Amino acid sequence: MAIREVLRLGNPILGQKASRITEFNTNELDVLIQDMQDTMQAKNGAGLAAPQIGVSQQLVLFGFTSNPRYPQAAPIPQTVLINPEIRPVGELITYDWEGCLSLPGLRGFVPRYDCIEYSGYDANGDQHTIKASGFHARVVQHECDHLIGILYPQRMDDLSKLGYVDELLEAGELQHVKQEQS
Ligand code: NI
Repeated sequence: MAIREVLRLGNPILGQKASRITEFNTNELDVLIQDMQDTMQAKNGAGLAAPQIGVSQQLVLFGFTSNPRYPQAAPIPQTVLINPEIRPVGELITYDWEGCLSLPGLRGFVPRYDCIEYSGYDANGDQHTIKASGFHARVVQHECDHLIGILYPQRMDDLSKLGYVDELLEAGELQHVKQEQS
């Protein structure tokens, strides 16, 4: 069990395309997943991608029952997703506030597909296909973007809606978000 350092915006690993995972049920993969779970939990993340801890491989985690960083979000099942693919379902785009452990203290108002179907492998190498909408779909799109070197500001179409949590709270843009730990 280990809480790993989370790389921040500007680190070149965050801008790389991650490689596919080809071996399942290995000790190396189990340790990586455990470290990511420990790190995500310690920092109250809604999700975490392997490149954020410096491992450029196609692995993301997400899920929570309740999350102080996103107190109004509905629960998302704890998920390990490897070599993911995302397909939009319909063309509806919605905007909501997102944060990222690699941009501590910041939030941005980001457009995402409202409804998606995503597929990928779990830790045992079994394939799953899941349909998701709303915040669940948003989290999956955010985490999978990390695997192609994209951070959420690159998805924004109005950078005036990028700011620090405390300033946005003060301005009344954000509500009910607890201050982050980092
Ligand atoms: Ni992120």
